[in-house]
Amino acid sequence: EQQGVEAPVFSAASYACQRSTPQPGHNTLLTDSLAVLAESAELNGDEGRAVAFRRSEALLRSLDRRVQGVAELRGLPCLGEHSRRVIQDVLDNGKSSEVEETKSSSRYKAMKVLTGIFGVGVKTAKRWFTEGICSLAQLETSGHTLNPAQQAGLKYYADLNQPVTRDEADAISVTVEEAVCSVLPGAQVTLAGGFRRGKTSGHDVDFLITHPDEGKEEGLVHKVTACLESRGVLLYHQTTRNTYQESPEGAGRPRSNMDRFERCFSILKLVQDPVQVEADQTDSGCRPWRAVRVDLVVSPISQFAFALLGWTGSKLFEREMRRWAVHEKSMSLSSHALYDNNQKRYLTASSEEEIFAHLGLEYVSPSGRNA
Ligand code: CTP
Ligand code: MN
Ligand code: MN
Ligand code: MN
Repeated sequence: EQQGVEAPVFSAASYACQRSTPQPGHNTLLTDSLAVLAESAELNGDEGRAVAFRRSEALLRSLDRRVQGVAELRGLPCLGEHSRRVIQDVLDNGKSSEVEETKSSSRYKAMKVLTGIFGVGVKTAKRWFTEGICSLAQLETSGHTLNPAQQAGLKYYADLNQPVTRDEADAISVTVEEAVCSVLPGAQVTLAGGFRRGKTSGHDVDFLITHPDEGKEEGLVHKVTACLESRGVLLYHQTTRNTYQESPEGAGRPRSNMDRFERCFSILKLVQDPVQVEADQTDSGCRPWRAVRVDLVVSPISQFAFALLGWTGSKLFEREMRRWAVHEKSMSLSSHALYDNNQKRYLTASSEEEIFAHLGLEYVSPSGRNA
């Protein structure tokens, strides 16, 4: 480029739901750094700070080419002083000292190990860390009583911390579809979560299940888990029934980020391809199967579009859509419904496209929701 000519300025909308965010984007050195700081804030229970870093990370991931200098970022939304400092550091030195310090801190490392156990949240991990527990071995000898989820989490720790590949997700899909259709013919199974957004690996596999005849889907999770159990592939499950009908959301109700669908957080046994097992055997001496985290969510067909939007993610994209709805449109969006606070009525939708349209947003396809 010619000297003295000002670098072209990027432009971007301020809400992540107003733009398309691919995975992994063109600035992975920067976004990986900001993601560490976001994660560290999450592990400290500092939600506000975590969201601020997540927003800057998503903004940079949405840019259509590589950032060469901070000057190019002038005027862009979502980038606070702190994020800009980190970006500057990475652009100047190839890495950020704050990120390096964070990654090597004993607190961050211990919190990652402990929250890496399925069933262990930030609060529990913090309490254990305060007691000096930093590793799985220390936890096992600590004498703490673990709940069933945590016991399963510890038992399958290695498997559950090994990313699920797209092929494995497809194999799990076959198992889940077979089980669902054998207990309720005509039911529809849709892959949601990160894999629907086109990610090539994930920490679990998410499925949304519905049936074209409203009501037929009631109690389905229980039947599906019974079927999976009889086939010997259910290693762990925790089922929650649907509580939406008991107290639907509406005007003035406190909005919770948790939806109230019938669902099941489970661990399934994925029997592996014999050829693949043979190839793996040398280094892992492994059994012919691995444990995989699977989420099953059941939605009535009338709420399906909202459920699909909500369970496709990403978490930040969903959060931004809800923030947009409230602050820009005076509407309340959840995984169940969309309520217009001005018109004082629910707006129905049978597709994700309709929901975006109700909200006055341009449609963003799942692969663009990797905020
Ligand atoms: N979700 C939710 N309620 C929960 C858990 C998850 O609504 N109790 C939604 C999240 O908001 C997200 C989607 O389900 O939009 C998938 O969540 P999750 O599996 O945690 O994340 P993924 O985006 O699929 O990423 P990963 O590959 O790590 O699984
Ligand atoms: Mn997922
Ligand atoms: Mn995740
Ligand atoms: Mn999930």
